[in-house]
Amino acid sequence: MRRILTEAEIETRISELAQQINADYAGKSLTVVGVMVGCIHFLSDLLRRLNVPTRVEVIFASSYRGSATSPDRLEIRTAREFDLHDQHVLLVDDIFDTGQTLQGLSDSFAGQSPASLRAAVLLWKQGREKVALQPDYHGFKIPNEFVVGYGLDFDGRYRELPYVAVLEAHEQGA
Ligand code: IMP
Ligand code: MG
Repeated sequence: MRRILTEAEIETRISELAQQINADYAGKSLTVVGVMVGCIHFLSDLLRRLNVPTRVEVIFASSYRGSATSPDRLEIRTAREFDLHDQHVLLVDDIFDTGQTLQGLSDSFAGQSPASLRAAVLLWKQGREKVALQPDYHGFKIPNEFVVGYGLDFDGRYRELPYVAVLEAHEQGA
């Protein structure tokens, strides 16, 4: 595996993002919704640097990649109900790839009339977007390669790694 982001680089960047978020939401309270499971490290590292009153919820989202002709399908599940009406909502996910996950979640949450709705991602993969929506906060833009670590998995593995690495095609076998 080829490491592209070290633990120290990630930590420094998340501190910067937290400063920006603290400034943007000063005087307000925030509802952070983490997109499981990939958000785990980013959610935790970001949360402990926020200094605005914050409520935390999580949601489970999985996308089933369609073929060239059938569209991708997004499945959203909640562990428990939560109400976003009049809340300042910040969606937190590991990576913005095609953007369909964040677009789907934003569309679904918009129906609850939040006071505001933004999205933060650690990684923004370039050249893959299929939606007009863009993340409001991002840690790093990365090239179009498959990455693991820091919450991101390949077939359920590597989420625990404290850094981000590219998993080359020949490493994606069984
Ligand atoms: P999107 O809906 O295409 O933006 O994809 C977002 C989801 O796909 C992320 O939350 C990840 O779970 C997964 N994903 C996208 N790219 C990668 C990658 O390079 N490594 C691991 N998971 C990825
Ligand atoms: Mg995900």
